[in-house]
Amino acid sequence: MTAGGPVALVAGATGPIGRAVVRALAADGARVAALSRSGDRVDGCVQALACDLGDPAALDAALSAVEAGSGPVEILVNAAHPPAGFGTPVAELDPGVLAAQLAGAAAHAALCARVVPGMRRLGRGRVVYVAGASMARPLPGAGGYAAAKAAGAALTRQLALEEGTAGITANVVAPGRVLDPESASEPSASAAALGQELARRLALPTFPSPDDVAAAVRLLVASPALTGQTLWVTGGEPITA
Ligand SMILES: NC(=O)c1ccc[n+]([C@@H]2O[C@H](COP(=O)([O-])OP(=O)(O)OC[C@H]3O[C@@H](n4cnc5c(N)ncnc54)[C@H](OP(=O)(O)O)[C@@H]3O)[C@@H](O)[C@H]2O)c1
Repeated sequence: MTAGGPVALVAGATGPIGRAVVRALAADGARVAALSRSGDRVDGCVQALACDLGDPAALDAALSAVEAGSGPVEILVNAAHPPAGFGTPVAELDPGVLAAQLAGAAAHAALCARVVPGMRRLGRGRVVYVAGASMARPLPGAGGYAAAKAAGAALTRQLALEEGTAGITANVVAPGRVLDPESASEPSASAAALGQELARRLALPTFPSPDDVAAAVRLLVASPALTGQTLWVTGGEPITA
């Protein structure tokens, strides 16, 4: 094991939010392992891991590599999720599409099951699940995604209750629409229309950025007293959960 700050694992590290979380945790002194299917390196990480979270053997091997390289994981931030696949009403939802979305929540459970025993041995730990405001505010065609995020958030709140006495906190960050200033891609016509509709609901002038989501993650990682909470990073769009 190498000396240094706490060991963090960021799953879904290659997306805009994951990249921002890796940068933020590294700036706070954590030694960050960045996990994605591609295994691409991310600025600020000490280790990049290629792993499909749906493959238990690959997950175990990735975590073993982190433990061998840096030590037990003290901070887990899970920003991984299958492509959202918005657009299909619940009444027309293909069971396979729904199962693919729910696999994102199952992967969260598998990640927690793999890292929590090490956190218990350390006597401390932080789990942050990146959900989505859709879990509480229906949008047309977002049913499978919303169900998966609600399941992941429920698992996280359970974990908070069950592991608190071990010094482990577990919290949810639920972004609404996030605008990535580094993205050059134009949204589709339907995404642009949805963006205009959501923009009318904001209190603030702009949608949050990936760095804004990372700031919420950072707060939850820093706090020993916040657990079982959900931070809605929506730019002020009111969410009634
Ligand atoms: N962006 C938004 O506006 C927004 C809004 C609300 C909530 N969210 C949530 O925030 C999180 C991050 O979103 P994002 O837009 O930054 O990410 P993204 O661009 O959708 O990237 C998803 C990340 O998850 C990884 N991933 C997906 N399936 C995986 C699997 N089976 N095993 C391992 N890694 C997997 C991807 O790795 P590969 O690239 O290698 O496949 C990638 O790193 C997601 O959970 C998303 O639902 C995003």
